[in-house]
Amino acid sequence: MDHFVYRPDRHDGGDHVAMHCEQLPAEEIARLAGTPCYVYSKATLLEHYQRLTAAFAPLAPLVCYSIKSCGNLSICKLLGEAGAGMDVVSGGELYRALAAGVPASRCVYAGVGKTDAEIEQALDAGLGASGLGLFNVESEEEFENIARIARRKNAVCNAALRVNPDVDPKTHRYTSTGKKESKFGVDIERAKAFFRRFGRDPHCRLCGIHLHIGSPIYTTQPYVESVQKATALIDELAAEGFTITTLDLGGGFGADYETDQSPTLAAYADAIVPLLAARVLRGLKIILEPGRTLVANAGVLLTRVLYIKTSGEKTFAICDAGMNDLLRPSLYQAFHFIWPCRTTASFAPARRAKDMAIDGLLPIDVVGPICESGDFFAVDRPLPPLRRGDLLAIYTAGAYGMAMASRYNSTPLPAEVLVDGSTLAIVRKRESYEDLIAHERSPEPVVTG
Ligand code: LLP
Repeated sequence: MDHFVYRPDRHDGGDHVAMHCEQLPAEEIARLAGTPCYVYSKATLLEHYQRLTAAFAPLAPLVCYSIKSCGNLSICKLLGEAGAGMDVVSGGELYRALAAGVPASRCVYAGVGKTDAEIEQALDAGLGASGLGLFNVESEEEFENIARIARRKNAVCNAALRVNPDVDPKTHRYTSTGKKESKFGVDIERAKAFFRRFGRDPHCRLCGIHLHIGSPIYTTQPYVESVQKATALIDELAAEGFTITTLDLGGGFGADYETDQSPTLAAYADAIVPLLAARVLRGLKIILEPGRTLVANAGVLLTRVLYIKTSGEKTFAICDAGMNDLLRPSLYQAFHFIWPCRTTASFAPARRAKDMAIDGLLPIDVVGPICESGDFFAVDRPLPPLRRGDLLAIYTAGAYGMAMASRYNSTPLPAEVLVDGSTLAIVRKRESYEDLIAHERSPEPVVTG
C-alpha cells in the first residue's frame, strides 16, 4: 500500500519498533526537518501513479494530477516526469503546473469562478490550443466570457462542458459535487441546449464532456451511472451533429484512510473500462483527474507531543501540529490513523483502523495548540500510552493536508520533505517568523480620487 512501515528499532534491545519512511526512520527525519513536517515517499507516489495507469491502460487516458490535493512543486515534477498532465482550478495552480515543467497542452482547467485575468493567462500559456488540454467550462456566462476573451486575442481553444449528472457519490456533503443542487457544472438536461447555443463557436471549441461528481467516492456505482449518462449524452449530441472527442471523468477515487477501506484502482477500472473501451477504439480520448488516490497515502504529517494533560475524565495529547497544519479532522470530522513512531513491539500496528484491538491501548484526544475547541485530530482514540516528547505520525495526510494548511494563530507553514530510499530533500522550507509578516512590512498608501 505504501512505504511507511514499522521495523525493529536497531538502537534498542529489540523490544521496540520504529516507523520508517522508505529507508529512513521517522525520528531521523524529524531530527533533520523539525516538526511539524509533511513527509512524502517518492516510491509510494510513483507506485500509485503506475498502478493507476496500468489499471486504466485499455483506455490509454491522459492522467491529469489534481494539483489542489498537494501542489508541492517537487511532487508535481515527479508526476509530470512520469507522464502526467495536471488538473488546475486557478491561475496559481496553472503557474505551479508550468513551473513544474508540465506543458499547458497537458493541463485541464476547471473551476466555477475563472477570472478574466486567469482566462487570459491560460490562453497566453496555450491551454486548450493543442494536445489534450481543455478549459472545463462550468456555466453559460463563463463560456461566453472565455469565447469573448479568446476572440479578442484572436486565439482558439478547446473546451469541455462540465455536466452535472445528478448522481449521488455518497460522500461528505462538503465534497459532493455531482448532484443537482451543486454549484458545479451545468445540469445534464441543459447540456444539449448549451451545445445548440455555443457548440459552433469558432474561438472556444466545445469538444468534450467533463464529469467530477465528488471526492472520495468509495463505491464504483456512481462512476458507472455518471459514465452511462455521459455516453448517452455524447450519442444524443452526435445525432445533432456535435462531435465529442474527449470525455474527462474527473477524480474522486478513494484512498485507504483505514486498511482496505477503498476499492482498488483495478476495481474502479474494472467497472469503468468496459463502458468506454469500444469508444476509445473509435477515437474517444479519456482524461482522469486523480488527486487523493495518488498522494494521500504517499504522505504523513509528523508531529511532536508537547504535553500530556488530564482534564476530568479526559486525557489530551497536545501536539505541535494543529488544525492549521491539517484541517480535515476539524472540517469534515475525517478519520486519520495516528500512531507513535516509536513504540514497543507489542504495539506495532499490523493494519490501520479505528479499532485496533490491541491490549493496553488508552483513549486519548490528540489535539493541536490552536485556540479553538475544534482543533483536534482524534477524540477518545485508543492509542499506546503516550508521553511528552513522543513523535506521532498522522497518516494518509498527503492529500488535502499541506494544501489546506493555513497560518492561523500566526503559525509559520510547516516544512515538506521528500524521501527517496535513504535520502531526504527538504522540498518546502519551514516558514520563518519573518515570512509571516513579510507582506505587511511596508504598507503602501493607495491614493484615491
Ligand atoms: N477534479 C475536480 C474538478 C475536482 O474538483 C477535484 C477535487 C478533483 C478532480 C480531485 O479529486 P480527488 O481525486 O482528489 O478525490 N478537501 C477535500 C477534498 C475536496 C476535493 C475537491 N475537488 C478533502 O480533504 O477531502
